[in-house]
Amino acid sequence: ASGLITIDPGYKNTGSTKSGITFLDGEKGILRYRGYSIEDLAEKSSFLEVAYLLIYGDLPKQSELNKFQNDIKMHTLVHEDIKRILEGFPSNAHPMGVLSSLVCSLTAFYPESLDPNRSSEAVYLSIIRIMAKVPTMAAWAHKNELGHPVNYPSNNLDYCANFIKMMFAVPAEPFEVDPVIVDALDKLLILHADHEQNCSTSAVRLVGSSQASLYASISAGINALWGPLHGGANQAVIEMLENIKKDGGDIPKYIAKAKDKDDPFRLMGFGHRVYKNFDPRARIIKKAADQVLGKLGIVDPVLDIAKKLEEIALEDEYFVQRKLYPNVDFYSGIIYRAMGIPTEMFTVMFALGRLPGWIAQWKEMRESNEPIGRPRQVYTGPNARNYAELTDR
Ligand code: SDX
Repeated sequence: ASGLITIDPGYKNTGSTKSGITFLDGEKGILRYRGYSIEDLAEKSSFLEVAYLLIYGDLPKQSELNKFQNDIKMHTLVHEDIKRILEGFPSNAHPMGVLSSLVCSLTAFYPESLDPNRSSEAVYLSIIRIMAKVPTMAAWAHKNELGHPVNYPSNNLDYCANFIKMMFAVPAEPFEVDPVIVDALDKLLILHADHEQNCSTSAVRLVGSSQASLYASISAGINALWGPLHGGANQAVIEMLENIKKDGGDIPKYIAKAKDKDDPFRLMGFGHRVYKNFDPRARIIKKAADQVLGKLGIVDPVLDIAKKLEEIALEDEYFVQRKLYPNVDFYSGIIYRAMGIPTEMFTVMFALGRLPGWIAQWKEMRESNEPIGRPRQVYTGPNARNYAELTDR
């Protein structure tokens, strides 16, 4: 600390705002959206109902839910010119980079979103557009990576079914959406929907605090989520589990690497800044993994490796002492994989789930007229000095 300024790297002990959206108790492993427990919502609600709850503060009445769902349905189509932007990407472009670019390009197609003083109806329309168009753009990013033609949204399918169809349908072949996969996706999106002031949500609030548009703020959230320490962990977990499988299932070797201070390797999907107990979402996803793979008739050796890894780590002093438990990313990739979703799309799935949380947090920040985020620093560079001519250096 120096004078008035206290440095808090990673903001481990800094509260950035007051928020009424999501409550976490890290010691007890409790997560609630607007007061409702994640267990109840994952069991009884639907993703769009939870999105409405997060953004507008209460569970919707039937009429409110119908309007929200229908408004979203009416806006799933994406401007044809966005397909041209998409085709400009190299085919090996990571879908997170494609998606964050396409989402930010919405400011070009809907310039009224740049007006910080636009009406609440215009803000509502921006929110509907983001919820409606991001799944379409995500599926398009996947098709672009495959070099396949994109699929257009169909109005006779619900939100999750529509996304699954756009992801997997191929021209001239009949496509049946599997309800097991649709239900699994709906539950996973609920479980990812918000998580108070995590890295990517903080990015959305900070960018939004400069009065940048909702689209630009969500694009910033997608980029912050991409890193392997955050949303990118679900992809890193599967790559880690695959490596362990290739390595003859030698779990103790990877546990030892994770504990070795000189080895940069970390147990991906383990540990959390807030949870010092089981991440409640990980418990639900672990149970869902057994159910979904069972219903799909899939036996995935990587699931057994994950369970064994969890069992051994939770008996190891290093992890117990540091209160390191499986987090939301540890089992989610196993379900995505069983659904046929490719590994490089896993973090995009996290972004699809987190959309309503980012929107709700951006809206709350704007409605409470928070000042532009502008932290200070403790300066550690050189004192004042005179310019040195090139010939004198
Ligand atoms: C998400 O914030 C959120 O809410 C995020 C999220 C959300 O919904 O938005 O929950 C989603 O991002 C979940 C986290 C996904 N990331 C990973 O699974 C990557 C692996 N986990 C770690 O990198 C780490 O646990 C973090 C990033 C999640 C948390 O890091 P912290 O809070 O900064 O903790 P730290 O790095 O200071 O670790 C404390 C100690 C250290 O050891 P010591 O220096 O005290 O000896 O625990 C060790 C760390 O080395 N440690 C690990 C470890 N995580 C922490 N050691 C081995 N493997 C790990 N995974």
